[in-house]
Amino acid sequence: MRALEDPVRDFDAVRARCPVAHDAPTGWMVLAHRESVRVLEDHTTFSSAVSALHPAVPNGFDPPVHGAYRAVLDRYLTAERAAAFEPECRQVAAELVDTLPRGVDVEAVERFALPFAVRAQRRWLGWPRTVEDSLRRWMGENHRATRSGDRLAIDAAARSFDATVLAILDERRRTPAALHADITQELLDDRIGDRRFTGTELVSILRNWTAGELGTISASVGILVRYLAADPALQDELRREPARIPHAVDEILRIHPPLMSNRRVAACDAELGGRTIAAGDKVTVLWASANRDESVFGDPDRFDPDRNAEGNLLFGRGIHACPGADLARMELRVLVEELLAGTRRVELAESAPDHAEYPAGGLRSLHVRVLGLAPERR
Ligand code: HEM
Repeated sequence: MRALEDPVRDFDAVRARCPVAHDAPTGWMVLAHRESVRVLEDHTTFSSAVSALHPAVPNGFDPPVHGAYRAVLDRYLTAERAAAFEPECRQVAAELVDTLPRGVDVEAVERFALPFAVRAQRRWLGWPRTVEDSLRRWMGENHRATRSGDRLAIDAAARSFDATVLAILDERRRTPAALHADITQELLDDRIGDRRFTGTELVSILRNWTAGELGTISASVGILVRYLAADPALQDELRREPARIPHAVDEILRIHPPLMSNRRVAACDAELGGRTIAAGDKVTVLWASANRDESVFGDPDRFDPDRNAEGNLLFGRGIHACPGADLARMELRVLVEELLAGTRRVELAESAPDHAEYPAGGLRSLHVRVLGLAPERR
């Protein structure tokens, strides 16, 4: 299979000429860091109401509705709750590391990144093991549909996910709540203002949490494993000093973005980066470009966690900044800790990266060799 071009390099080239570019079907593409922050911080001009028919909860809303949803939903995603989930997440990571065959070529996207994301997510939500296959299938359908840009296929993928969630919610409603002491049950019983969430809201919330987790976490794992496999010296440093892993993770994912972009729509005419944007125009913030802007980070490929942490837009900025950041950081830290503790060396077994096709981030496939430390190390 032919390796795809790296979309991130294409954005680098465009950004050098143009901080805000126009592309016929997509609309405005915001490539520079300064202009991206301006869009993210000015939510009055750059609205998140990109889909009037099916607004996603909470991302498709502007204030004040957005804030009302976030006030309730952020409680599920605190650092304390992420810490409480850590032992279970570590078990998922450790089991996967232990079952990686040693000394042979392993395709790590299918074998490691996707299973980690799916297992961690369904356990976090308290869903049955049987759901893992549906989630894997949905990810495939969703990737293919998003890549094709075919509206019907995208809707069909959304419906297929909705069917999985609805079946879980139906089962919950038929059985006593006391049997399910988990996040899904808590959400079913929760209130926004003086009412319960509607079925449509529940599905949308769970779709966003799941899409957030599966797409970005699996892409992040592929990127992190490749970066570490390509840099044995960094692997050894992090094995010796695991306390440096969290900053390293954020910096690697600044250089190689797991999430390429998010959308806005102009609520009124505006000037941005010397361009005139008209009310109603589509605006895409390209994390994959803004996070590599030379005017903020210097050489975008230079690994410098301390210098670059402040400008890093990995989890966004402003009122829509990722509520799942604590959970995501915990999961990725634990995954890297377990991978490094459970191996002597991870090596690349391929030359060029096989990039996923834009708008997906991360890698389509990744071949590595894992050496050392048998499962009985524990
Ligand atoms: C490495 C993993 C992740 C990355 C890089 C990431 C990145 C982002 C970014 C950049 C945004 C801002 C989008 C915007 O401004 O339009 C965002 C929003 C969001 N993320 Fe994450 N995310 C990750 C993991 C997660 C996880 C694990 C969850 C939940 C379980 C999650 C749930 C959400 C939700 C619900 C929003 C929308 C927030 C709002 O509109 O107020 N994300 N994420």
